[in-house]
Amino acid sequence: MTKAIILSGGWGTRLRPLTCTIPKTLIPIVNKPVIERQILLLKAAGVKEVVLAVSVMADIIKSYFKDGEKLGIKIHYTDEKHPMGTAGAIKLAESYLENDNFFMLNGDVILNYDFSDMLKFHENCKGIGTIAGKTVEDPSRYGVLIVNNETHQLLKFLEKDEYAPPDGKSVPMPINAGVYILEPEIFSFIEPNKKVSIERDVFPKVSDKNKLYHYPINGIWSDVGKPYDLLQGNVLLMNDLIKNQKGNVRNLIEPSTDIHPSVKIYPPCTIGESVVIRGNCKVGPNVVIGDNVFINNYSELKECLIYNRTHISSNVQIEKAIVADNCNIQENVKLKGNNENLIVLASYVHVMKNIEMIAPKTLSLTVCHHEVVKESLK
Ligand code: GDD
Ligand code: MG
Repeated sequence: MTKAIILSGGWGTRLRPLTCTIPKTLIPIVNKPVIERQILLLKAAGVKEVVLAVSVMADIIKSYFKDGEKLGIKIHYTDEKHPMGTAGAIKLAESYLENDNFFMLNGDVILNYDFSDMLKFHENCKGIGTIAGKTVEDPSRYGVLIVNNETHQLLKFLEKDEYAPPDGKSVPMPINAGVYILEPEIFSFIEPNKKVSIERDVFPKVSDKNKLYHYPINGIWSDVGKPYDLLQGNVLLMNDLIKNQKGNVRNLIEPSTDIHPSVKIYPPCTIGESVVIRGNCKVGPNVVIGDNVFINNYSELKECLIYNRTHISSNVQIEKAIVADNCNIQENVKLKGNNENLIVLASYVHVMKNIEMIAPKTLSLTVCHHEVVKESLK
């Protein structure tokens, strides 16, 4: 039976200060941690055992998933004292994975497709590994796949800085989506007790032996790299989840919410459990609100993510922002991002009344956890 390993141990530096208190892979995507969504997709494809390769903030991840019983899947954890790299991390799980092929996932990618089709593809190819690829306009931030489109063989794997586009001009290319199916033979390419990168040290060697294949993904894909990617990724998944609902569903709203009839909701929006929204608020488009959030009268939210238990007072305007859990935003506050530069408040931030935080054209404005914002920032 195919098992799976999910890499869940990076620092998530580009998402600081959000990742000062939440490991990147537990960040909610449409109100469920990114790896929980992955585990549920793996389960749907018949996977019964998953190893989480944890390192940074390992205890927080372990106490969230425990042994996996709640999700109906068996979860094991590796014991990685320091980050060992993407291949070093899976080498620690060799004893769990050595008997059959297995899925390996980067724990920070958002997807929503049927893994069982990829497994069939892999079993037909008979290589050592299959790498899922997604064609993107600008491949420069990702590992690039040079593919023989007839045989599906991977001719070259070039990690981020190893690829130069022809004539220096970016052209759409299939990139490494961070989803693989590997045969146990892969472990013979990984030196034990060393920091090893699967992208830089292992895949180039396996592709030189013509043993790597490319599986193109058709569905949605996004990496949770920076705050703007996180916002976009939530919107991408929310639209996909809405599209797959029966009937004319335009928003994802939990039944336990208490939303005043005068509230205007502009789709698509997600509103979590026990959320209270008082009169005359405007919510949406592209808003995801977690559980137990309270929003008082006349507040307006657009293109933003609000995590669990945050309290928003009356007449607050939020646009292009991420507000983490347990924040408290007092009345008449304005938080406004600018293009890809967002306002990012980490957990437990308190914003005093009448404050304006407006992101300049070139910079996101971020506030660390537990800070109190007492002066406007522009
Ligand atoms: N356990 C463990 N130990 N996990 C790790 C380690 C480690 O030492 N280093 C990274 N990870 C985990 C991260 O938590 C993340 O889930 C995943 O491995 C990928 O690491 P990132 O740091 O997010 O890499 P990236 O996004 O720059 O690049 C990777 O992903 C791209 C797709 O999103 C590469 O695989 C690229 O080739 C790929 O295109
Ligand atoms: Mg990443």
